[in-house]
Order: sequence, then structure tokens, then C-alpha cells
Amino acid sequence: MEDERNEDKLMSKNEIENKLPIYKLKTGKEIKKYYDVWTEDNNYNKDMLDWDYSAPRETVSVFIKYNQNNKTKIFDAGCGTGLVGIELKKNGYNILDGADFSQSMIKQVPKNLYQNLYKIDLNKKILFKDNTYDAIICVGTFTYGHVHPPALDEMTRICKNGGNISFTINVGIYEEYGFDKKIKEMEKNGILKIKEFFMSDYIKTKGVNAWLCLTTVRK
Ligand SMILES: C[S@@+](CC[C@H](N)C(=O)[O-])C[C@H]1O[C@@H](n2cnc3c(N)ncnc32)[C@H](O)[C@@H]1O
Repeated sequence: MEDERNEDKLMSKNEIENKLPIYKLKTGKEIKKYYDVWTEDNNYNKDMLDWDYSAPRETVSVFIKYNQNNKTKIFDAGCGTGLVGIELKKNGYNILDGADFSQSMIKQVPKNLYQNLYKIDLNKKILFKDNTYDAIICVGTFTYGHVHPPALDEMTRICKNGGNISFTINVGIYEEYGFDKKIKEMEKNGILKIKEFFMSDYIKTKGVNAWLCLTTVRK
């Protein structure tokens, strides 16, 4: 597993950064503005379809292996327009909450997909009690300028003991943003146990891959 993670030399950082204009943005303010424009005329969803953005279905297919009980209470962190929620629902999971910091993305979420939909900045402390969820899923949100490694502490805190966190990390930021170190530290402290870690297709048509990781939480 270690070797596989260190094989992340497929592309130089700059090569990936140049793949999509959003990867050039640095601040939350810039990112929100970008999504405000991208969601006009449903363009975000249209692009994801055109680009064959496979991350929601890839992540949900791994999630299913470890969450056989469809009564699992799930938190979709950085839910965007709800593509992951839609995929979860297709597979029989209905107890879903979603959160995102972009109002324009949230506005595109189909009605009644999530039981609760929160506007939350995942780079800050989340105002949920400890051990609120059985499982957390976070797709496409650990990427350039978006959500940073300390968010994993908060996700772990709000996840129950024995629950799991499934997430993607854009390969271009895995080391640059310190996800490699953060995950190693959390494994070393025994709070996370990695069950799956592999390179996923993610947005293959744009030549961008992501690490797909599923960890269980030990408290
Ligand atoms: C590429 S989209 C992925 C959305 C959805 N998970 C999907 O797979 O289609 C990334 C999402 O992360 C959200 N995001 C970025 N920074 C965030 C932050 N600090 N807190 C909460 N959400 C954030 C964006 O608003 C956007 O909806």
C-alpha cells in the first residue's frame, strides 16, 4: 500500500494544475464565485456528464463493500449538486445528509435527496456532535483550493467508532497539501485504519486521477 501511494509520480504538479481552470484558484471566495458561474444553466451537471466524471460511482461502489446495511446514516461532505447522493440512493441508501459551502451548488440538489442539507465550510469546525454519522463520503472535494487535510479530523470526530470515511484526493494535491502526512499520522495514532487505497479514474477524459481511500474509524 505504501509503495502504491508513493508511486504518485504519474504527472508533475503543474501538468495536473493546467488540466482545468478551477485548479488555478486558491481561496474559498474564488472557488465559490467559480461555482456560481459554473452552475448557470445547469452547466456543472452537464459538464460532469460530458466528461464522464466517474468519481461518484467509483466511490459509491467501494462504499457499498463496507456498508452492507442500507440503514446506514451517511454524511455527504461537499455534496455539490448531489451527484453522490443520487448514486447512493440508486443503491438503496436513503438516510443521507449533505453539506456544501456553495449556495449555488446546493440550489441544484434535487428535492428530497438529502434529509438535511447544510451550508457548511468544511475547513472550519463542523457544528455537529461527536459520533453523529455511521459513514461519511467526500468526493471531489479534496482538490485544489477546496478542502484541506485538517477536515479529516472533523470527519473522524463526527463519525461513529467502527464507521468509515470514503474519499477521493486529487493526485495533484496529495503531497502538496500534506494529505500523505496527515493520513500517515492518523494511521499511526490508530484513529484511522486504511481498508482501500488505490488510483481511481476520477475524470479520466480530462487526464485527471484521484486516490480513492476508504478508512475505518477507531476511537
Ligand atoms: C468538484 S465539486 C464535487 C461535488 C460532489 N461531491 C460531486 O462529486 O459532484 C467540489 C465541491 O466542494 C465544495 N467545497 C469546496 N470548498 C469547500 C469548503 N471549504 N467547504 C464545503 N464545501 C466546499 C464546492 O462548493 C463543490 O460543491
